Amino acid sequence: MPFFAPLNPPVAAWPGQRVWIVGASSGIGAETARLLARRGARLALSGRRAETLDALASELATATGSEVRSLPCDITDAQAVAAGARTLCEAWGDIDLVLVAAGIYDALRPQEFHEGDLPAVRHTLDTNLLGAYHVLAAVLPGFRHRGRGHLAFVSSVAGYNGLPQALAYAPSKAALNNLCEGLYLELQPLGIAVTRICPGFVDTPLIAGGHFPTPALQTPQAAARAIVLGLERGDFEIHFPRYFTSLLKVLQWLPRRLYFFLLRQVTRP
Ligand SMILES: NC(=O)c1ccc[n+]([C@@H]2O[C@H](COP(=O)([O-])OP(=O)(O)OC[C@H]3O[C@@H](n4cnc5c(N)ncnc54)[C@H](OP(=O)(O)O)[C@@H]3O)[C@@H](O)[C@H]2O)c1
Repeated sequence: MPFFAPLNPPVAAWPGQRVWIVGASSGIGAETARLLARRGARLALSGRRAETLDALASELATATGSEVRSLPCDITDAQAVAAGARTLCEAWGDIDLVLVAAGIYDALRPQEFHEGDLPAVRHTLDTNLLGAYHVLAAVLPGFRHRGRGHLAFVSSVAGYNGLPQALAYAPSKAALNNLCEGLYLELQPLGIAVTRICPGFVDTPLIAGGHFPTPALQTPQAAARAIVLGLERGDFEIHFPRYFTSLLKVLQWLPRRLYFFLLRQVTRP
């Protein structure tokens, strides 16, 4: 592969692409589903809220004429995720792209951390991190067998650096960021694409009511456009908005003394 070639095969055309979005009932996943339905992809929408998914699937199918099915499942339940993948492979023959957008945010605070917070930590890691492994276990055998397929994980810039008020969320995303790199190294030579998606702040239910600054806040529609564009370019990492996320990338390289000093200036109540 030439050194400056796209790291993944660019998605040239969406019509007929079989896309499974896990975490499609609201926010970034739902808006990406709207955009991909308009582009003609065949979609399966997963999440825990069956009624919301049913309503979205029938709204999108009616509005766009695309095939959109509701496939409720909880990403923390490995068997349910495997059953979802089986259902899709039986119906579609294969899955071209799995977009994992499912995620939850906690606002755990170190000063107040106690034993009672551990279930929230477990739930965050089960959803944001182990959920990704459940998807891998469900779809990778088929992808490997066929030597094709695309895994895209919505992670976060929160995984770039340590953050206050995100004691389970940020480590879950740091691990997911790392997992995507390992997966890319292992799977790309087998013909399987891996994409890491790191949004900045996006105005969705996930961060609603949070008591923290949200600089460079994006709409979920803008997030969906950036994700689809990045997939079309064949990016390994899709991060946006670039002026904000690039700054956070620079912060990764700063001595921690300087990083802690700067972060205290911007997160001070
Ligand atoms: N909003 C931001 O500022 C921001 C920034 C960076 C990264 N992100 C990431 O973007 C992704 C999407 O979040 P969002 O902002 O769009 O928030 P959102 O509107 O709350 O969407 C979260 C999605 O995850 C699904 N989900 C949660 N737990 C699940 C489970 N156990 N099983 C299956 N699905 C589950 C939810 O569906 P159900 O409730 O129906 O299960 C929902 O569809 C998350 O991974 C988040 O970490 C968000």
